[in-house]
Amino acid sequence: MQESIKGILNQVNFDVHDIIQLLEADDINTEYLFSQAAKIKQKHIGNYTYFRGLIELSNYCRKDCYYCGLRKSNSDVFRYDVRDEEILKSVAYAYERNWGSIVIQSGERQDIEFAKRIERLLIKINKQTNFELGITLSLGEQDYDTYKRWYEAGATRYLLRIESSNKELYNKIHPNDSFHKYENRIKSLETLQRIGYITGTGVMIGLPFQDLKDLANDLLFMKSLDIDMCGMGPYIEHETTPLYKYKNTLLPLSERYTLSLKMIAILRIMMLDINIASTTALQVINPNGREEALLVGANVIMPNITPTLYHANYNIYKGKPEIEPETDTYIQKLEQTIKQAGDTIGYGQKGDPKHFFNKKQ
Ligand code: 5AD
Ligand code: SF4
Repeated sequence: MQESIKGILNQVNFDVHDIIQLLEADDINTEYLFSQAAKIKQKHIGNYTYFRGLIELSNYCRKDCYYCGLRKSNSDVFRYDVRDEEILKSVAYAYERNWGSIVIQSGERQDIEFAKRIERLLIKINKQTNFELGITLSLGEQDYDTYKRWYEAGATRYLLRIESSNKELYNKIHPNDSFHKYENRIKSLETLQRIGYITGTGVMIGLPFQDLKDLANDLLFMKSLDIDMCGMGPYIEHETTPLYKYKNTLLPLSERYTLSLKMIAILRIMMLDINIASTTALQVINPNGREEALLVGANVIMPNITPTLYHANYNIYKGKPEIEPETDTYIQKLEQTIKQAGDTIGYGQKGDPKHFFNKKQ
């Protein structure tokens, strides 16, 4: 055990150099880091895992992010919109299993028809479930009125990843036009907080051009914004995207995976009582990836309940379509693994992050 790592973990606050050292930790020190994160999770939020049923509502997107398979210029994608009745069926699936919460995600659209459709859908979902489900939206950048419209229709949580908090890096992985402005993304996050959403963000880990300092600053960015939730995971290259040409410059997948677990563990230690999701990208690299993340600080898992018909077309990165939709048998296994690992599943609870309420006190 390196004394310096122990020393850092005993501090109340980390600076960028501390975090870099933690990210560089060797195997033995990493084990220690993970065990500290597990302790903090137990102490501050209890050993709970919350389920959120993830519904990938549509893969139409007007953006052209250089890393994502759903980008507008990718003409290989079969574009879909899940019909309201089908969404309500998926919602019922989560509700009947007592999961307490759903996430609605889609590619980005900013037109009024879309805004109104989501509003109607939220009203229907809340009616169908007696306002008992926590509803998280992940529908990209929108203006104040749209965010407000959805909040008033019953969505209380919103996830908008900053993708990278380094503006220069952000600009390298997005087109340089008015649709992909770093400043707008920051503004959106601030608007969400101002309206009163329980707000989440996140980044990709192992991007081309990214170094440990960027990742350390990503965590400090989350802390400075005082976010309530985080979803972050490894970057996984996709053949039909512009960033694919940098594939030989990337860290091996196994390192991106470990780095992602370290990021989760460090964030748990830095922001004791937020919700941290164990993301699907971890599962692409390691079939047990999502369960492992729960052991090092994550406390939310998002089984995909998009109707099977559409599932394969939400092809953000390589390997995603091969992940089976979550069958009943799979979910039973997942529940067992979580319980064996010592966590209790937060059935029947919305599972809002304690941080949101604690910081108001
Ligand atoms: N690898 C990992 N994550 C990705 N995302 C998009 N493309 C990739 C990729 N190639 C993530 C982004 C986005 C979310 C919907 O998926 O962080 O916010
Ligand atoms: Fe669209 Fe999101 Fe993919 Fe960017 S990351 S292209 S906004 S779906």
